[in-house]
Amino acid sequence: MNAIERAAIIGAGTMGLGVAQCFALAGLEVTLVDETPDASRRALERLAERVQRHVDAGLLPDSALEAARTVRAASDIAAAVAVADLAFEAAPEQVEIKREVLAACDAGAPADAIIASNTSSLPIDELAAFVNLKERFLGLHWFNPPEWTPAVEVIPSAHTDPAVVERAREFLLAIGKKPATVGSGPGFVANRIQFALFREALACAEAGLATPQEIDEVVRSSFGFRLPFYGPFQIADMAGLDVYVNIMDVLAEGLGADWEAPEQLREIVAEGRHGAKTLAGFYDYSEDERAALLIERDKRYAAMSRLLEAFSTPADLGTGESS
Ligand SMILES: NC(=O)c1ccc[n+]([C@@H]2O[C@H](COP(=O)([O-])OP(=O)(O)OC[C@H]3O[C@@H](n4cnc5c(N)ncnc54)[C@H](O)[C@@H]3O)[C@@H](O)[C@H]2O)c1
Repeated sequence: MNAIERAAIIGAGTMGLGVAQCFALAGLEVTLVDETPDASRRALERLAERVQRHVDAGLLPDSALEAARTVRAASDIAAAVAVADLAFEAAPEQVEIKREVLAACDAGAPADAIIASNTSSLPIDELAAFVNLKERFLGLHWFNPPEWTPAVEVIPSAHTDPAVVERAREFLLAIGKKPATVGSGPGFVANRIQFALFREALACAEAGLATPQEIDEVVRSSFGFRLPFYGPFQIADMAGLDVYVNIMDVLAEGLGADWEAPEQLREIVAEGRHGAKTLAGFYDYSEDERAALLIERDKRYAAMSRLLEAFSTPADLGTGESS
């Protein structure tokens, strides 16, 4: 499997610049292209400023500036992708722009190059229509800010060659990211869950249950506090799946049928798999593993409390007043 050493980034905005920084610091040869040659040249200046800010804040060593200076601007997409192993588009989320950009990548990139879209919401199967060599196309959905957020959703279309998925995953792992392969449904996985949270936060505010400031505090300091360490299935296993079913029964009674515990969860509970306490839930545990899990959890939460303490200045929270 060929390593990815040369990347072209199409669209040097919020995401494209951050991904360019990531790639350059990982030692790749990076070419940036924006809407016009002038915009592409200015993107190099914005990249240098961005990296300088990180160096000034003590987040990156001085050598990062040197790495950022290796990034080149191209006059157009054809020139940018001509020798690329990966053509990564981070152009605006509009189908017509994606069509134009992906078709140009497909026409100009070497046949064995991967072509990837950073789309947040457009179905990858639909974008695949804009590429002739469909087996080398997939979604690579990064998160803002891309330099620091670990996850990248890897989204194959129905036509993507599994070897391309593997090559993309290996590359992401090699540059320190955490790839997760997900399906092409609306919002993929991260945005579907993130927006479910946002929808309910808005509903709580609208129902007068709490102010936005209070809701932010509750979310950050309750289940949000656990999320850097554990996903929803791990958290549910630690809480008790039988308890979750009981809670969901109450939610369904008060908020409607959408809140019903899914049949799959009821079946797991009916089988006696109640989570860590019964040594089986979504995960299986030995007695020793369960004991280790719980004390490790407590160490992590204690460390998180210390980290939050270090960052809890009043400025973090804002004033709570609209401007
Ligand atoms: N902003 C986010 O938090 C975020 C997170 C994940 C994914 N995304 C996705 O990444 C993509 C880019 O988002 P963004 O926030 O960086 O947008 P942005 O508006 O900051 O940047 C888009 C860039 O593309 C350039 N551009 C416009 N037309 C072009 C063309 N024809 N060829 C080349 N460049 C062109 C623009 O000049 C701009 O610099 C979108 O698909 C978006 O949905 C955004």
